Amino acid sequence: MSSLRAKMPALLNKTYFNYGGQGPLPDSTLEAIIESWRNIQKLGPFSTSVWPYIAKETLKTREILASICGIPPHRLALTENVTIGCVLPLWGLPFVPGERILLSDSEHPGIFAACKEIARRKNLQIDILKVHNLQEVSINKKSNDSFINSFKRQLKPKTRLVVISHLLWNTGMIMPIIEITKLLRDHPNKPYLLVDGAQSFSHISIKEIASEADIYGFTGHKWAFGPEGLGGVALSERVLSESDPTLIGWRSIKNENFIDENESDLFHKDSRRFEIATSCIPLMAGLRSSLELLNHEGGIEERLKKIKNHSFMLWDEISQINGLENLLIDPPPSGIVSFKLTNKLNTDQVIKYLSNKKIFIRSLLHPNCLRACLHLTSTENEIRALVDSLKNLIKI
Ligand SMILES: Cc1ncc(COP(=O)(O)O)c(C=O)c1O
Repeated sequence: MSSLRAKMPALLNKTYFNYGGQGPLPDSTLEAIIESWRNIQKLGPFSTSVWPYIAKETLKTREILASICGIPPHRLALTENVTIGCVLPLWGLPFVPGERILLSDSEHPGIFAACKEIARRKNLQIDILKVHNLQEVSINKKSNDSFINSFKRQLKPKTRLVVISHLLWNTGMIMPIIEITKLLRDHPNKPYLLVDGAQSFSHISIKEIASEADIYGFTGHKWAFGPEGLGGVALSERVLSESDPTLIGWRSIKNENFIDENESDLFHKDSRRFEIATSCIPLMAGLRSSLELLNHEGGIEERLKKIKNHSFMLWDEISQINGLENLLIDPPPSGIVSFKLTNKLNTDQVIKYLSNKKIFIRSLLHPNCLRACLHLTSTENEIRALVDSLKNLIKI
Protein backbone atom coordinates (compact mmCIF):
# COMPACT_ATOMS: atom_id res chain seq x y z
CA MET A 1 0.00 0.00 0.00
CA SER A 2 1.35 3.47 -0.84
CA SER A 3 2.36 5.41 2.26
CA LEU A 4 -0.03 8.21 1.27
CA ARG A 5 -2.94 5.79 1.08
CA ALA A 6 -2.04 4.27 4.44
CA LYS A 7 -2.50 7.70 6.02
CA MET A 8 -6.19 7.86 5.03
CA PRO A 9 -8.57 5.98 7.32
CA ALA A 10 -11.41 6.48 4.83
CA LEU A 11 -9.60 4.37 2.25
CA LEU A 12 -8.99 1.38 4.51
CA ASN A 13 -12.50 -0.05 4.36
CA LYS A 14 -13.75 0.78 0.87
CA THR A 15 -12.94 1.07 -2.80
CA TYR A 16 -13.15 4.78 -3.38
CA PHE A 17 -13.59 6.70 -6.63
CA ASN A 18 -15.37 9.86 -5.46
CA TYR A 19 -12.42 12.23 -5.09
CA GLY A 20 -14.24 14.74 -7.31
CA GLY A 21 -17.07 14.76 -4.74
CA GLN A 22 -14.94 14.79 -1.62
CA GLY A 23 -11.40 13.64 -0.94
CA PRO A 24 -10.50 11.57 2.15
CA LEU A 25 -8.71 13.28 5.05
CA PRO A 26 -5.24 12.06 5.95
CA ASP A 27 -4.74 11.33 9.67
CA SER A 28 -2.04 13.99 9.80
CA THR A 29 -4.54 16.56 8.51
CA LEU A 30 -7.04 15.62 11.19
CA GLU A 31 -4.28 15.95 13.77
CA ALA A 32 -3.24 19.37 12.45
CA ILE A 33 -6.86 20.54 12.75
CA ILE A 34 -7.22 19.22 16.30
CA GLU A 35 -3.90 20.75 17.34
CA SER A 36 -4.91 24.13 15.98
CA TRP A 37 -8.28 23.86 17.74
CA ARG A 38 -6.53 23.02 21.03
CA ASN A 39 -4.22 25.97 20.57
CA ILE A 40 -7.19 28.29 20.09
CA GLN A 41 -8.69 26.95 23.31
CA LYS A 42 -5.42 27.45 25.18
CA LEU A 43 -4.99 31.00 23.92
CA GLY A 44 -8.61 32.06 23.83
CA PRO A 45 -11.09 31.28 22.42
CA PHE A 46 -11.88 35.03 22.49
CA SER A 47 -8.93 36.86 23.97
CA THR A 48 -6.18 39.29 23.11
CA SER A 49 -3.74 36.36 23.02
CA VAL A 50 -5.61 34.48 20.31
CA TRP A 51 -5.86 37.26 17.68
CA PRO A 52 -2.19 37.16 16.61
CA TYR A 53 -2.47 33.38 16.17
CA ILE A 54 -5.61 33.75 14.03
CA ALA A 55 -4.01 36.53 12.00
CA LYS A 56 -0.92 34.37 11.39
CA GLU A 57 -2.96 31.33 10.36
CA THR A 58 -5.03 33.42 7.96
CA LEU A 59 -1.99 35.13 6.46
CA LYS A 60 -0.07 31.86 5.96
CA THR A 61 -3.05 30.18 4.33
CA ARG A 62 -3.85 33.13 2.10
CA GLU A 63 -0.20 33.29 0.98
CA ILE A 64 -0.02 29.57 0.15
CA LEU A 65 -3.30 29.53 -1.79
CA ALA A 66 -2.36 32.74 -3.62
CA SER A 67 0.97 31.27 -4.63
CA ILE A 68 -0.76 28.13 -6.00
CA CYS A 69 -2.96 30.49 -8.06
CA GLY A 70 0.05 32.57 -9.20
CA ILE A 71 -1.35 35.80 -7.75
CA PRO A 72 -0.39 38.21 -4.95
CA PRO A 73 -2.16 37.49 -1.63
CA HIS A 74 -4.34 40.62 -1.80
CA ARG A 75 -6.19 39.01 -4.73
CA LEU A 76 -7.05 35.81 -2.84
CA ALA A 77 -10.20 35.67 -0.72
CA LEU A 78 -10.65 32.80 1.71
CA THR A 79 -14.04 31.15 1.35
CA GLU A 80 -15.88 28.10 2.55
CA ASN A 81 -16.43 26.30 -0.73
CA VAL A 82 -16.38 26.68 -4.50
CA THR A 83 -19.89 28.05 -4.72
CA ILE A 84 -19.28 30.94 -2.34
CA GLY A 85 -16.06 31.78 -4.18
CA CYS A 86 -17.85 31.93 -7.52
CA VAL A 87 -21.19 33.37 -6.50
CA LEU A 88 -20.33 36.20 -4.08
CA PRO A 89 -18.16 38.15 -6.53
CA LEU A 90 -20.56 37.28 -9.36
CA TRP A 91 -23.36 39.17 -7.62
CA GLY A 92 -21.13 42.22 -7.26
CA LEU A 93 -20.33 42.63 -10.97
CA PRO A 94 -21.58 45.87 -12.55
CA PHE A 95 -24.08 44.49 -15.07
CA VAL A 96 -26.27 46.73 -17.21
CA PRO A 97 -29.79 45.50 -18.16
CA GLY A 98 -29.75 43.81 -21.56
CA GLU A 99 -26.23 42.42 -21.17
CA ARG A 100 -25.61 38.70 -21.65
CA ILE A 101 -24.01 35.83 -19.75
CA LEU A 102 -22.41 33.04 -21.76
CA LEU A 103 -22.70 29.97 -19.57
CA SER A 104 -21.34 26.51 -20.35
CA ASP A 105 -23.88 23.69 -20.28
CA SER A 106 -21.62 21.73 -17.91
CA GLU A 107 -21.67 24.02 -14.89
CA HIS A 108 -22.63 22.76 -11.47
CA PRO A 109 -26.32 23.24 -10.64
CA GLY A 110 -25.56 25.74 -7.87
CA ILE A 111 -23.55 28.04 -10.16
CA PHE A 112 -26.09 27.57 -12.94
CA ALA A 113 -28.95 28.54 -10.63
CA ALA A 114 -27.08 31.63 -9.39
CA CYS A 115 -26.52 32.78 -12.97
CA LYS A 116 -30.18 32.24 -13.83
CA GLU A 117 -31.33 34.20 -10.81
CA ILE A 118 -28.92 37.08 -11.38
CA ALA A 119 -30.11 37.20 -15.00
CA ARG A 120 -33.73 37.35 -13.81
CA ARG A 121 -33.12 40.10 -11.27
CA LYS A 122 -30.80 42.23 -13.40
CA ASN A 123 -32.58 41.70 -16.70
CA LEU A 124 -29.76 39.86 -18.45
CA GLN A 125 -29.90 37.20 -21.15
CA ILE A 126 -28.24 33.81 -20.85
CA ASP A 127 -26.58 32.07 -23.80
CA ILE A 128 -25.58 28.45 -23.42
CA LEU A 129 -22.22 27.21 -24.63
CA LYS A 130 -22.37 23.51 -25.45
CA VAL A 131 -19.39 21.66 -24.07
CA HIS A 132 -20.77 18.46 -22.54
CA ASN A 133 -20.72 16.67 -25.87
CA LEU A 134 -17.10 17.54 -26.64
CA GLN A 135 -14.96 14.45 -26.65
CA GLU A 136 -11.57 15.65 -27.71
CA VAL A 137 -11.04 19.34 -26.93
CA SER A 138 -7.43 20.17 -25.96
CA ILE A 139 -6.32 16.83 -27.24
CA ASN A 140 -5.80 17.74 -30.85
CA LYS A 141 -5.53 21.06 -32.59
CA LYS A 142 -8.35 20.51 -35.09
CA SER A 143 -10.99 19.89 -32.42
CA ASN A 144 -9.62 22.78 -30.36
CA ASP A 145 -10.02 25.10 -33.35
CA SER A 146 -13.57 23.93 -33.92
CA PHE A 147 -14.42 24.58 -30.26
CA ILE A 148 -12.92 28.06 -30.43
CA ASN A 149 -14.91 28.81 -33.57
CA SER A 150 -18.14 27.78 -31.91
CA PHE A 151 -17.18 29.81 -28.81
CA LYS A 152 -16.61 32.87 -31.01
CA ARG A 153 -20.05 32.41 -32.58
CA GLN A 154 -21.66 32.37 -29.13
CA LEU A 155 -19.93 35.55 -28.00
CA LYS A 156 -22.32 38.43 -28.62
CA PRO A 157 -21.51 42.16 -28.59
CA LYS A 158 -23.39 42.44 -25.27
CA THR A 159 -21.76 39.42 -23.61
CA ARG A 160 -20.54 40.71 -20.23
CA LEU A 161 -19.65 37.47 -18.46
CA VAL A 162 -18.44 34.02 -19.47
CA VAL A 163 -18.87 31.19 -16.97
CA ILE A 164 -17.00 27.95 -17.56
CA SER A 165 -15.26 25.25 -15.54
CA HIS A 166 -11.55 24.66 -15.94
CA LEU A 167 -11.94 20.88 -15.76
CA LEU A 168 -15.48 19.73 -16.50
CA TRP A 169 -16.99 17.79 -13.62
CA ASN A 170 -19.08 15.63 -15.94
CA THR A 171 -16.88 14.55 -18.85
CA GLY A 172 -13.45 15.28 -17.33
CA MET A 173 -12.52 17.48 -20.28
CA ILE A 174 -10.05 20.36 -19.75
CA MET A 175 -11.35 23.57 -21.31
CA PRO A 176 -9.02 25.72 -23.44
CA ILE A 177 -9.34 28.69 -21.09
CA ILE A 178 -6.19 30.49 -22.20
CA GLU A 179 -7.58 30.74 -25.74
CA ILE A 180 -10.84 31.99 -24.25
CA THR A 181 -9.05 34.73 -22.26
CA LYS A 182 -7.41 35.93 -25.48
CA LEU A 183 -10.78 36.19 -27.22
CA LEU A 184 -12.29 38.05 -24.27
CA ARG A 185 -9.44 40.51 -24.18
CA ASP A 186 -10.19 41.49 -27.79
CA HIS A 187 -13.96 41.74 -27.23
CA PRO A 188 -15.31 45.32 -27.17
CA ASN A 189 -17.48 44.69 -24.07
CA LYS A 190 -14.49 43.18 -22.18
CA PRO A 191 -16.51 40.31 -20.65
CA TYR A 192 -15.54 39.05 -17.22
CA LEU A 193 -14.40 35.44 -17.00
CA LEU A 194 -15.62 33.29 -14.12
CA VAL A 195 -13.89 29.92 -13.90
CA ASP A 196 -15.09 27.12 -11.65
CA GLY A 197 -11.97 25.38 -10.37
CA ALA A 198 -13.75 22.77 -8.23
CA GLN A 199 -12.23 19.83 -10.09
CA SER A 200 -8.91 21.40 -10.95
CA PHE A 201 -7.40 22.65 -7.67
CA SER A 202 -4.56 20.27 -6.63
CA HIS A 203 -5.39 18.07 -9.61
CA ILE A 204 -4.12 19.91 -12.68
CA SER A 205 -1.97 23.01 -12.93
CA ILE A 206 -4.08 26.14 -12.35
CA LYS A 207 -1.52 28.97 -12.09
CA GLU A 208 -1.77 30.22 -15.64
CA ILE A 209 -5.55 30.31 -15.63
CA ALA A 210 -6.32 31.31 -12.04
CA SER A 211 -4.08 34.35 -12.50
CA GLU A 212 -5.81 35.35 -15.76
CA ALA A 213 -9.46 34.73 -14.81
CA ASP A 214 -11.52 37.45 -13.14
CA ILE A 215 -13.00 34.98 -10.67
CA TYR A 216 -11.44 31.55 -10.11
CA GLY A 217 -13.24 29.69 -7.31
CA PHE A 218 -11.96 26.46 -5.74
CA THR A 219 -12.15 24.30 -2.66
CA GLY A 220 -9.73 22.27 -0.57
CA HIS A 221 -12.09 19.38 0.11
CA LYS A 222 -11.89 17.51 -3.17
CA TRP A 223 -8.60 16.75 -4.94
CA ALA A 224 -6.44 18.46 -2.25
CA PHE A 225 -7.49 16.03 0.54
CA GLY A 226 -8.39 19.03 2.70
CA PRO A 227 -11.28 19.42 5.13
CA GLU A 228 -14.72 20.50 3.96
CA GLY A 229 -15.43 24.14 4.78
CA LEU A 230 -12.34 25.87 3.38
CA GLY A 231 -11.68 27.10 -0.14
CA GLY A 232 -10.62 30.23 -1.92
CA VAL A 233 -11.20 32.49 -4.86
CA ALA A 234 -8.63 34.26 -7.01
CA LEU A 235 -9.90 37.67 -8.09
CA SER A 236 -8.59 39.97 -10.81
CA GLU A 237 -7.61 43.56 -10.05
CA ARG A 238 -10.56 44.77 -12.09
CA VAL A 239 -13.03 42.66 -10.09
CA LEU A 240 -11.57 44.17 -6.92
CA SER A 241 -11.98 47.69 -8.21
CA GLU A 242 -15.20 47.37 -10.24
CA SER A 243 -17.40 45.02 -8.23
CA ASP A 244 -19.37 45.68 -5.08
CA PRO A 245 -19.16 43.46 -2.00
CA THR A 246 -22.30 41.35 -1.73
CA LEU A 247 -22.74 39.33 1.45
CA ILE A 248 -21.34 41.85 3.90
CA GLY A 249 -19.93 41.30 7.37
CA TRP A 250 -17.27 42.57 9.74
CA ARG A 251 -14.45 40.97 7.77
CA SER A 252 -15.43 42.90 4.62
CA ILE A 253 -15.04 46.31 6.24
CA LYS A 254 -11.89 48.36 6.78
CA ASN A 255 -12.74 49.86 10.10
CA GLU A 256 -15.31 48.63 12.59
CA ASN A 257 -15.52 52.13 13.98
CA PHE A 258 -17.10 53.55 10.85
CA ILE A 259 -20.33 54.47 12.62
CA ASP A 260 -18.60 56.96 14.97
CA GLU A 261 -16.22 58.21 12.34
CA ASN A 262 -18.90 58.77 9.69
CA GLU A 263 -16.89 56.71 7.24
CA SER A 264 -18.52 56.26 3.84
CA ASP A 265 -15.86 54.17 2.08
CA LEU A 266 -16.46 51.06 4.17
CA PHE A 267 -14.95 48.12 2.41
CA HIS A 268 -11.51 46.64 1.98
CA LYS A 269 -10.12 47.36 -1.47
CA ASP A 270 -8.55 43.91 -1.59
CA SER A 271 -10.03 40.40 -1.66
CA ARG A 272 -11.27 40.74 1.93
CA ARG A 273 -14.27 42.69 0.59
CA PHE A 274 -15.61 39.20 -0.25
CA GLU A 275 -14.89 37.67 3.15
CA ILE A 276 -17.72 37.84 5.62
CA ALA A 277 -17.47 36.89 9.28
CA THR A 278 -16.42 34.17 11.75
CA SER A 279 -15.17 31.02 10.11
CA CYS A 280 -13.36 27.88 11.18
CA ILE A 281 -9.68 28.76 11.65
CA PRO A 282 -8.44 25.20 12.50
CA LEU A 283 -9.36 24.04 8.99
CA MET A 284 -6.52 26.20 7.69
CA ALA A 285 -3.84 24.13 9.41
CA GLY A 286 -5.60 21.05 8.03
CA LEU A 287 -5.60 22.22 4.43
CA ARG A 288 -1.96 23.36 4.62
CA SER A 289 -1.00 19.99 6.05
CA SER A 290 -2.74 18.15 3.17
CA LEU A 291 -1.11 20.41 0.60
CA GLU A 292 2.31 19.68 2.11
CA LEU A 293 1.62 15.97 2.03
CA LEU A 294 0.72 16.23 -1.66
CA ASN A 295 3.89 18.21 -2.35
CA HIS A 296 5.91 15.27 -1.01
CA GLU A 297 4.41 13.22 -3.87
CA GLY A 298 5.93 15.59 -6.47
CA GLY A 299 4.98 18.76 -8.30
CA ILE A 300 1.53 19.18 -9.82
CA GLU A 301 2.61 17.94 -13.30
CA GLU A 302 4.36 14.90 -11.88
CA ARG A 303 1.33 14.05 -9.77
CA LEU A 304 -1.03 14.48 -12.71
CA LYS A 305 1.12 12.07 -14.72
CA LYS A 306 0.69 9.42 -12.00
CA ILE A 307 -3.04 10.13 -11.75
CA LYS A 308 -3.38 9.80 -15.53
CA ASN A 309 -1.66 6.39 -15.45
CA HIS A 310 -4.48 5.25 -13.17
CA SER A 311 -7.28 6.86 -15.13
CA PHE A 312 -5.90 5.46 -18.38
CA MET A 313 -6.05 1.93 -16.91
CA LEU A 314 -9.72 2.29 -16.08
CA TRP A 315 -10.61 4.09 -19.32
CA ASP A 316 -8.85 1.36 -21.31
CA GLU A 317 -10.68 -1.44 -19.47
CA ILE A 318 -14.03 0.29 -19.92
CA SER A 319 -13.44 0.72 -23.63
CA GLN A 320 -13.31 -3.09 -23.88
CA ILE A 321 -16.56 -3.80 -22.02
CA ASN A 322 -19.69 -4.32 -24.10
CA GLY A 323 -22.49 -2.35 -22.50
CA LEU A 324 -20.26 0.55 -21.37
CA GLU A 325 -18.98 3.50 -23.37
CA ASN A 326 -16.40 6.07 -22.29
CA LEU A 327 -17.52 9.66 -22.79
CA LEU A 328 -14.07 10.61 -24.05
CA ILE A 329 -12.77 8.97 -27.19
CA ASP A 330 -9.17 9.65 -26.20
CA PRO A 331 -7.43 8.77 -22.91
CA PRO A 332 -8.58 11.13 -20.14
CA PRO A 333 -6.48 14.26 -19.53
CA SER A 334 -7.11 14.03 -15.76
CA GLY A 335 -8.26 11.59 -13.09
CA ILE A 336 -11.92 11.76 -14.15
CA VAL A 337 -13.28 8.78 -16.10
CA SER A 338 -16.95 9.07 -17.11
CA PHE A 339 -18.86 6.45 -19.01
CA LYS A 340 -22.36 5.68 -20.24
CA LEU A 341 -24.42 2.54 -20.02
CA THR A 342 -25.43 1.28 -23.42
CA ASN A 343 -27.56 -1.67 -22.28
CA LYS A 344 -30.78 -1.92 -20.25
CA LEU A 345 -29.21 -1.04 -16.91
CA ASN A 346 -29.70 2.40 -15.41
CA THR A 347 -27.16 4.34 -13.37
CA ASP A 348 -29.08 3.92 -10.08
CA GLN A 349 -28.89 0.15 -10.41
CA VAL A 350 -25.15 0.32 -10.97
CA ILE A 351 -24.55 2.67 -8.02
CA LYS A 352 -26.62 0.43 -5.74
CA TYR A 353 -24.88 -2.76 -6.89
CA LEU A 354 -21.42 -1.24 -6.42
CA SER A 355 -22.27 0.36 -3.06
CA ASN A 356 -23.27 -3.06 -1.75
CA LYS A 357 -19.72 -4.12 -2.53
CA LYS A 358 -18.37 -0.95 -0.89
CA ILE A 359 -17.26 0.43 -4.25
CA PHE A 360 -18.09 4.11 -4.57
CA ILE A 361 -18.55 5.96 -7.85
CA ARG A 362 -21.27 8.50 -8.65
CA SER A 363 -23.88 9.11 -11.32
CA LEU A 364 -24.46 12.38 -13.15
CA LEU A 365 -27.52 13.63 -14.99
CA HIS A 366 -26.05 15.79 -17.76
CA PRO A 367 -24.99 13.78 -19.62
CA ASN A 368 -26.55 10.75 -17.97
CA CYS A 369 -23.43 8.81 -16.99
CA LEU A 370 -21.31 7.30 -14.25
CA ARG A 371 -18.16 8.98 -12.99
CA ALA A 372 -15.14 7.38 -11.36
CA CYS A 373 -12.31 9.61 -10.12
CA LEU A 374 -8.81 8.27 -9.71
CA HIS A 375 -6.19 9.90 -7.53
CA LEU A 376 -2.62 9.22 -6.44
CA THR A 377 -4.06 6.93 -3.77
CA SER A 378 -5.96 4.75 -6.25
CA THR A 379 -4.61 1.24 -6.77
CA GLU A 380 -4.65 -1.36 -9.51
CA ASN A 381 -6.60 -3.63 -7.15
CA GLU A 382 -9.30 -0.99 -6.82
CA ILE A 383 -9.51 -0.57 -10.59
CA ARG A 384 -9.70 -4.36 -10.96
CA ALA A 385 -12.46 -4.57 -8.35
CA LEU A 386 -14.52 -1.91 -10.15
CA VAL A 387 -14.00 -3.41 -13.59
CA ASP A 388 -14.81 -6.97 -12.44
CA SER A 389 -17.94 -5.78 -10.65
CA LEU A 390 -19.11 -3.85 -13.70
CA LYS A 391 -18.51 -6.90 -15.90
CA ASN A 392 -20.41 -9.14 -13.48
CA LEU A 393 -23.33 -6.76 -13.28
CA ILE A 394 -23.59 -6.46 -17.03
CA LYS A 395 -23.62 -10.27 -17.33
CA ILE A 396 -26.52 -10.64 -14.87
C1 LIG B 1 -17.71 21.77 -10.87
C2 LIG B 1 -18.25 21.95 -9.49
N1 LIG B 1 -18.63 23.18 -9.08
C3 LIG B 1 -19.13 23.41 -7.86
C4 LIG B 1 -19.26 22.38 -6.96
C5 LIG B 1 -19.82 22.69 -5.63
O1 LIG B 1 -18.78 22.67 -4.71
P1 LIG B 1 -18.92 23.33 -3.26
O2 LIG B 1 -19.88 22.48 -2.50
O3 LIG B 1 -17.53 23.31 -2.71
O4 LIG B 1 -19.43 24.69 -3.42
C6 LIG B 1 -18.87 21.08 -7.32
C7 LIG B 1 -19.03 19.97 -6.38
O5 LIG B 1 -19.01 18.82 -6.74
C8 LIG B 1 -18.35 20.87 -8.61
O6 LIG B 1 -17.96 19.66 -9.01
